[in-house]
Amino acid sequence: MTKLYKCDFMDNGINFERFVIRACCKSVHSGVERPTLCDSYENIDWQKIKERRDIWRKQIAEGNPPVFCKGCSAIQTVNKLNNDDFVYFVDVNSFVKCNSRCVYCDCWSKKGVKEYSMFPYFQELFSKKLLKQVYYGYIQFAGGEPALMIDFDKIIDLCIENGMQRYIVNSNCIKYSQGIERLLRETETNLCCSLDSGCEETFAKIKNVPCFNQVVENLKKYTDAQQEGKSRVLSKFIIIPSYNDSEEEIIKWYDLSVSLGIKNLVLDIEREWFKSNNQKITKHMEKMIELIQKHCKKEGINLDYYESLKCLYKKV
Ligand SMILES: C[S@@+](CC[C@H](N)C(=O)[O-])C[C@H]1O[C@@H](n2cnc3c(N)ncnc32)[C@H](O)[C@@H]1O
Repeated sequence: MTKLYKCDFMDNGINFERFVIRACCKSVHSGVERPTLCDSYENIDWQKIKERRDIWRKQIAEGNPPVFCKGCSAIQTVNKLNNDDFVYFVDVNSFVKCNSRCVYCDCWSKKGVKEYSMFPYFQELFSKKLLKQVYYGYIQFAGGEPALMIDFDKIIDLCIENGMQRYIVNSNCIKYSQGIERLLRETETNLCCSLDSGCEETFAKIKNVPCFNQVVENLKKYTDAQQEGKSRVLSKFIIIPSYNDSEEEIIKWYDLSVSLGIKNLVLDIEREWFKSNNQKITKHMEKMIELIQKHCKKEGINLDYYESLKCLYKKV
């Protein structure tokens, strides 16, 4: 039997980026143009998007993917192809505005990026019946800071009214958002906050804004809104060499997160440092991670690993 291949994101994904619409937010090969479905927000032609997608889907299916997809882990071998044209995965990365100044992120420093309201595009996805809820689909907000995004709360209301149930929101939690609280109360949402610290001093060093107490207060409101078994607040600790890479710092973060009622923790390592260290972590970092693993096991806290650490550790 001939082998067949497919990619869920090429089949059913859409990534609203700053200037263009792509199929996914993955960049497998740096320096290679990524799968752009539409080159501007001025005039979106959904039929043309389908036609572009179909060419790449066919190439992937035949085992000869376009250059930007070659070697991507999202491509799977299948017995049967998916001919469904609905959108199941929406990534929103169309904005860069942020109220934090994280040392590891350059998003907030981008200049001259025109932010479009995504509300009309979501309206169009619903009115043209292009977006569909499936049990593994999601709408994800990352970009800059979602709580500052134009029309964020309006978009959430629209999506909920149209039956969308699964969301991922990456927020620094500096600005409280009614939309995020509604998502936690009414839908299956993962809210991920990169806290990276457990005290005011370390927070200020990493985030370069004096907002620690505000974040703690908002996290408390959000954890009160989470619905057990349905929505969750996740607290993330990115190990950032020279800023928070000590057992004392990671325990402060653990204790604070747990004291706020957070039951889901995530560990990651600063991406650029990890790359420059040949994708390896130090013995000292291993010990930090082991310490958190031990605490989580003892106290029944879920622990997950993101991006770089995902290939070194398994979820517990
Ligand atoms: C670009 S941020 C924007 C979303 C939101 N403002 C926030 O703070 O979560 C999206 C996610 O990427 C992560 N991130 C950004 N730069 C990173 C880096 N150099 N290494 C690891 N994670 C990074 C952040 O921690 C955050 O969880």
